[in-house]
Amino acid sequence: MGSPGLAKAMAKMRDAGVDDVAVQTFAHYYRQLEHGETGMIPEDTIEPVDIPSIHDAEVSDDEAHAAISTTAVIKLNGGLGTSMGMDRAKSLLCVRKGLSFLDVIARQILHMRKTYDVRLPLLLMNSFRTSEDSLAALERYQDLPVEGLPLEFLQNREPRLLADDLTPVEWPKDPELEWCPPGHGDIYTALLDTGLLDLLIEQGYERVFVSNSDNLGAVPDEKVAGWFAKSGAPFAIEAVRRTPSDRKGGHFARRKSDGRLILRETAQTRDEDKVALQDLSRHKYCSTNNIWFDLKALKKVLTERDGILGLPLIRNEKTVDPSDPKTPKVIQIETAMGAAIEVFEGSQLIEVGRDRFVPVKTTNDLLVLRSDVYDIGEDFVLDQVAEVVPFIDLDSDYYKYVANFDERFPEGAPSLRKASSLTVNGDWTFGKGVQVIGAVELDGASAERVAPATVLSD
Ligand code: UTP
Repeated sequence: MGSPGLAKAMAKMRDAGVDDVAVQTFAHYYRQLEHGETGMIPEDTIEPVDIPSIHDAEVSDDEAHAAISTTAVIKLNGGLGTSMGMDRAKSLLCVRKGLSFLDVIARQILHMRKTYDVRLPLLLMNSFRTSEDSLAALERYQDLPVEGLPLEFLQNREPRLLADDLTPVEWPKDPELEWCPPGHGDIYTALLDTGLLDLLIEQGYERVFVSNSDNLGAVPDEKVAGWFAKSGAPFAIEAVRRTPSDRKGGHFARRKSDGRLILRETAQTRDEDKVALQDLSRHKYCSTNNIWFDLKALKKVLTERDGILGLPLIRNEKTVDPSDPKTPKVIQIETAMGAAIEVFEGSQLIEVGRDRFVPVKTTNDLLVLRSDVYDIGEDFVLDQVAEVVPFIDLDSDYYKYVANFDERFPEGAPSLRKASSLTVNGDWTFGKGVQVIGAVELDGASAERVAPATVLSD
C-alpha cells in the first residue's frame, strides 16, 4: 500500500497535467523521503580526486570547431532566486547599462554564432514561474531562435509537502505556492518528457552544454567542447579549485565501492566529517555547475532506467509563504543536475579557470557584477579587470533582498576595481561615483549616507 500523502500528491500532479514520467520520478523520491533517506556520504567511503586542467588539454582547432558545431546550449532558468527575496527569474535582474543576465546571455550566443559560424542553439529551461517573463525579455532578439527548435522547454512542477505529514500543502490564498520546480536535476526528466532529447538527436546535435543563467562566466567554450568530444566521455563537469570561501560548500570525490566520481554536498556530510569536508588540500575541487553531456548517452541511461535517473535526494525545507516565516513548514523534493556524474560510467572532471564561474547567489555577488570589477566587451564575455575580486559582506538586515539592496545603491554600484573587501554593517545608502580602495568597513547605528564621489579607503 502506498502512503496517503503520496497518493494525494500523485493525483494532484495528474490533475494538473504533469507528464507521467515526472509523476513516477516524484514518487521515486517521495518514497525515499518517507523512509528517512538522508543521503549521507561518510568520509571513509570516498577518496579525494586529482583532475586534469583544460589548460593542458590538447585540442586542435578542427576538433574544437567540429565539437562546438554539434553542441546545443541550455541555460537553467527555472529557479526563483528566493535567497535574494525574488519570486521570479534571477536572470531578469539588471547586470549593468540596462542589460539583464538574459540580455548578456543572448548577446554572448549571437556573437559566438558569428565568430564560430555555427548554429549553437540556446534553450532556456524555464519553470512555470519563469517562462512568461523570460520569453518576453528575449523577444527583442529575433535571430535567437534556431529553426526547428523552441527557445525554451518547461521543467516539471510538483506539490510542496507539509513537513508534518508529507501531504500536499493547500494554500487557497495563493495556489501557486502549493507547487515548486523539482530542482535542476529535473533537467533530465524534462528533456525526456518534452521530447526535446529526441528532437536534438534527430537534428544532429551530439552534446549539450548546460549552465546556470546566473553565471555569466559560463560561455560555451570551443576548447572545452573539443576536449569533451575528444574524451569520449558521456558526461563531464567543469570544476574549479576550492578557495577558503568555498570551504563550506560541496566538493567532488571518488566513491571507493565502485570507483565512480561523485559530488558530496554539505547536507550529505556527517558532523564528524565536517573537518575533512573543509580540508582544501584534501578535497580540492568544487563544481561550477557547467556541465557537458552526450545526448545519446543520456538517452541510453534513461531508457535503461525507465526514465528515472535515481539521483541523490535533496530535502529542501521552506515556509509555504517564503516571505512569512510564521506560515507552515513545507518540504520540497529536489535533485541537483551535477549529481548525475555518478550515474554515468566514465564521467570526467576538468579543471577550468575561475573566469568560468561567476555565480550570483547573493546581493554581495550582484554588487561585484554591477561594479567595474569586470568589463563586458564586444563579445559580451566578462573580462575581469580588477586584480582581485573583492570580498563583499553587506548587512543582511538591509541588503539581503534585491529590492532593499537597490534602494541603497540608487545610482549604481561603487567602483570596486581597487577594493580588496567591503564590509557594511548598518544601513548605508551610497551616492553616485563612490570609490572603494583596499579593505573598507562601514559601521553605523542609524540610516547613513555615503556622499557622492567619496573615496573610501582603509
Ligand atoms: P540555485 O539553486 O543556485 O538558485 O540554482 P535559485 O533557484 O536561482 O535561487 P534560490 O536558491 O531560490 O535562491 C542554480 C540555477 O539553477 C536554476 C536556477 O534558475 C539557477 O540558474 N534552477 C534551479 C532551475 O532551473 N530549476 C530549479 O528547479 C532550480
